[in-house]
Amino acid sequence: MAFNLRNRSLLTVQDYTQREFQYLLDLARDLKRARYAGTEEERLKGKEIVLIFEKTSTRTRCAFEVACHDQGAHVTYLDPTGSQIGHKESVKDTARVLGRMFDAIEFRGFSQEAVEDLAKYSGVPVYNGLTDEYHPTQMVADVMTMREHSDKPVHDIKYAYVGDTRSNMGHSLMIVGCLMGMDVRIAGPRELWPSEEYQTIARALEAKYGARLTITDDPKEAVKGVDFIHTDVWVSMGEPKEAWAERIRLLKPYQVNAALIEASGNPHVKFMHCLPAFHNLETKVGQEIHEHFGLEGMEVTEEVFESERNIAFEQAENRMHTIKAILVATIGDQ
Ligand code: CP
Ligand code: NVA
Repeated sequence: MAFNLRNRSLLTVQDYTQREFQYLLDLARDLKRARYAGTEEERLKGKEIVLIFEKTSTRTRCAFEVACHDQGAHVTYLDPTGSQIGHKESVKDTARVLGRMFDAIEFRGFSQEAVEDLAKYSGVPVYNGLTDEYHPTQMVADVMTMREHSDKPVHDIKYAYVGDTRSNMGHSLMIVGCLMGMDVRIAGPRELWPSEEYQTIARALEAKYGARLTITDDPKEAVKGVDFIHTDVWVSMGEPKEAWAERIRLLKPYQVNAALIEASGNPHVKFMHCLPAFHNLETKVGQEIHEHFGLEGMEVTEEVFESERNIAFEQAENRMHTIKAILVATIGDQ
């Protein structure tokens, strides 16, 4: 291995330097090619990985499981109700138990403190599979996907994230673009802007890596000339149902629709979303929102979602290749 990320955790987006992040992207590209070519070698043989999910998941869980199986590791899955964590046992005690049985821990949950405590007390690498604050494994997939769909060097890529900008995805996309030296536009209503704490982290990386960060409440201005437009759900996991009315009022002007795509002025602009997305009435939540507020799509219209511009499913596949890269880089055989 040319680069040493051994035994490292991934708790926040900014845990890694630009060079380290780039290494993960290169490794993910190589592992993806090897899987497609049928030449993949098992570098996680005999490793034991535990996946803790306090919140639900499709992509992150499946990405970890498939990546582990491909590489010869075993997984143990703890679902949102199936363990003692949080109810009968503290994170600190859980960490000390799991650290004696497993080579690494994935955690998806509410507090960032929990994932940090797991890392602090388990003694093994811990990967943040989403907290209220960050979604770092998603960021490796998002940058990989932008790199695959652009001929520009990464630092020349321009992207916008529109919608709820003080969420795990808002924070993460703001910070990762600065880390990678990119042109990042974060657009949402002022009430939902990232707090000072997150802006400070992003601004420091912007200065260090020559990025261009714009935070604005003007969605059309934000998307002007960009290569990619990202969005995410308007109400995240763990937030109360009552939040919907206010969120819809605030975020409706930030919906990714044909007019916003047009405002980019880029005929090749691509649409990205970490998924799941609300773009029609085929989900329970989508139907409820339609009954109460009359909306058919929310953060993205069906028209944009079902268009050629949508690369969210490529992005979803890349979750697996990138999570595999994180595992191989941190606990894989040399
Ligand atoms: N993007 C993402 O994290 O999806 P899941 O919630 O399905 O894991
Ligand atoms: N912001 C979303 C991301 C889901 C992958 C949530 O936390 O629900």
